[in-house]
Formats: sequence, C-alpha cells, structure tokens
Amino acid sequence: MLKKNSWLLWGAALFIAWNCLLLLFLWSRPPSSSSSSSSLTAQVIRLAQDAETELERQKELLHQIYLYSGALWGRRRNRGARITPKPSSPPPQIDVDLVLPVLVLACDRSTVRRCLDKIFLYRPSAQRFPVIVSQDCGHAETARVIASYGDAVVHIRQPDLGDIPVPAEHRKFQGYYKIARHYRWALGQIFRSFRYRAVIVVEDDLEIAPDFFEYFQAALPLLLADRSLWCVSAWNDNGKEQMVDVSQAELLYRTDFFPGLGWLLLAELWDELEPKWPRAFWDDWMRQPEQRRDRSCIRPEISRTMTFGRKGVSHGQFFDQYLKFIKLNDRFVPFTQLNLSYLKKEEYERSFLSKVYAAPEVKVEELQGNRRRELGTVRLQYSGRDSFKAFAKALGLMDDLKSGVPRAGYRGIVSFVYRGRRVYLAPPADWTGYDPSWS
Ligand SMILES: *[C@@H]1O[C@H](CO)[C@@H](O)[C@H](O)[C@H]1NC(C)=O
Repeated sequence: MLKKNSWLLWGAALFIAWNCLLLLFLWSRPPSSSSSSSSLTAQVIRLAQDAETELERQKELLHQIYLYSGALWGRRRNRGARITPKPSSPPPQIDVDLVLPVLVLACDRSTVRRCLDKIFLYRPSAQRFPVIVSQDCGHAETARVIASYGDAVVHIRQPDLGDIPVPAEHRKFQGYYKIARHYRWALGQIFRSFRYRAVIVVEDDLEIAPDFFEYFQAALPLLLADRSLWCVSAWNDNGKEQMVDVSQAELLYRTDFFPGLGWLLLAELWDELEPKWPRAFWDDWMRQPEQRRDRSCIRPEISRTMTFGRKGVSHGQFFDQYLKFIKLNDRFVPFTQLNLSYLKKEEYERSFLSKVYAAPEVKVEELQGNRRRELGTVRLQYSGRDSFKAFAKALGLMDDLKSGVPRAGYRGIVSFVYRGRRVYLAPPADWTGYDPSWS
C-alpha cells in the first residue's frame, strides 16, 4: 500500500505545485497599456479561458499519473507474488486484485479486430486486465490492425517464422505444429519475461461475452485455492442454444475435459507443462492422463466465448456444422458477488453427484418421444463406450471422447438440456474412472 500511496502523493504534490506556478504566472503578467474598463473585461475573460485550458491539461496529467502508478503497482505485486510462495509454506493468501492479463494469439486473420474490439468494450479495468497480442505468421495486414490499437495493446511477435520439420505423413498438419510453437513461445513470454502469475488465453477468432472478465475474475480465487483444478474455461462444448438453460446463465460446472477456447491458467501450470510441451496437437496432448493428472476445469452452462472464424487449420466444416450454433451468453452475471463455493471439490461431489443419481432414470426413447415430462430433471444411464456414443448421437451431443473423457463431462456425467428439460447422461453410480482406450 505504501508504494501506491507515495505515487499518489507525488501526483498530488505535482498538481498543487503546477497550480501555484500557474497563478504566479497569470498574476505577474504585465498589464496591457490601454487599461480601459472594456479591455479589463477582455482580460478577465482571457484569464478564465486560460485557466480552463490549463485545468483540462492538468486533468489529463493526473490521469496519466494514475495510470502509471497503477501499472507499476501491478508489476511489482506480480513479482512479489511469484517469489513468496514456497512448497512447504501454508497456502498463499488469495490475492483477489491479482493482475490478470489477456493473451490474444493472432496469425493471419485481420478479423482479430472483432476479438479485440469486444475485449475493449467489456474490459472493466485497463490496469487489472492488460492486453497482450502475440502475433505469429508475420502477416502485414494483421500487424497493421493490431498496431492500430496503439498503446492499448502490447504487441509481441513470434520470431521464428520458418517451417517446422515434420514427419512426411504429418505434412498436412504443419499448421498444428506452428500453433504449438506459437503457444509455447507466447506463454513463455507471459510467464518468463513479463512474469505474470496467471493469464487468460484467447485466439483471434473468438468473440467474448459481456461478463467474460467478471467470470474469470470470480473464478480465479477458486483456481488459486483448489489443487484439483487446473483451468477455468469460457467454453461449453455442448453449448448449442437449444441444449442450454438460458434462465441459468449463472450456473457453472466442474469438467474433466479440457475445453480451451478462452481459458485461464496459472504460472505453476506453465512451469509444469513447458519442459514437455508437445510439437503439435497441444490441446489433445493436454487431455492425456499424464498431463491432466485427474484435474478438472471450471466451465459455464452458457459459453462466454464464441468462435466466428471459418478460416483456420481445424475449422471449416466443423464450424459450419457445429461451432456456429454455440450460444454466446448475453446476460451479465455478477459472478464476483455470487457464492461459488459449491464448485469446490468436496462440496461439488456431495451436491452434484447426489443430484445426478437422485434423478429418475429414463430411456432414450422416452426422451426423444418427450414422454414422462412430469419427472422433471432426469438421468439417462450409459453402460459403455458404444452406448455413450449412441446416446450422444441420438440427442445431438458431442460424441467424441479424448483419452476416454466425454466433452464437458465430469466423472463421466454430461449435463445438458433436451427438449426443454435437464438431462444427465451418466455412467452407473459405481463408476471408478475413465478408460483412455475409449475414443
Ligand atoms: C456458500 O454456499 C455454501 C454451499 O455451497 C454454504 O455452505 C455457505 O454457507 C455459503 N456461504 C455464504 C456466505 O452464503
């Protein structure tokens, strides 16, 4: 606090000194030779105008001082936070004012403007959420778009634009290798050069929701406090409009599936992943048991990002068939004022699992035929890989599994809305773990 106060004091002192100098200057000006009463009025008016211009200038000056002290404060606090926690010491004090930068990964899509415009539209604080745009690919037009934001963004450039040697059968996957290289470099910049303690990662084809920052700000303390969490994501993989409950925009979940697409990670996770970061397909690599290590992410009922990009290494058809139907939340939820302790592991296992297994069981035909509506929330039980896939397909859910984990699933359970009612697609209650051979 001392440091910040002393900056503000300096600012105030400067402000007062400036005022004194100005008064001295104005009063000591030589009186004009013709001192008639009309020229005296003109002089008074001019004096008033001068004072007004000066006030404007001072307001700007104060604003600059405020911004500067805020930025310094953020950096200093950051550095301190990374040095202090020791493995054996008690859990670090949760610092709710932690600076939380947004890293935007850009390549050759000048539509990054849509992503950045929404970030600046919804960002509640420039000090709290600095924006860093990391550009790969050396695309001139995209660089111009990023530069047009001036000092509002920190523009960094991935220096190695060369092709990556890949096995012959992977030649068509060159793009995935470049993405992995870019992620590695950019996250290295965030955590090694800038030394931030956490970061929100977004890509240049994502548009954010009005409460995107509010969501991450509220979820950050959960991530800091709970070792069984390793990320917070803005994305619901089954978040198509008719599969979510728009009246429950505040609802959050734990998921064992790494969703990506607007996600928050801590420096500690980067320390762990960086030495073994893969050369390609980094997201599926993160979904492997060796990386995930039974940790979960927080994800929302309604996505806080949507993707608008068609052009990209993986999109195209997938975008047309699926991604463009994901519902972007449009109602601001004041997450920082809500009690989110239901998401803590013990609490969640108690409340969520009992809700799921207390729900009456129905058959898939009953769901499809919209029968037994009186039951309210229901459970559809699957017994193995094939029945999971069949049910998922029949109901319009994502049916792919990564290292045995269904998208948006928690302990094998996928929560969604079907024909207006809440359904849990769930394994038997005696479930013991994922089978990585399910794919
Ligand atoms: C927050 O919710 C939990 C249940 O998830 C409850 O035990 C706790 O008392 C609540 N805290 C407050 C301050 O309401």
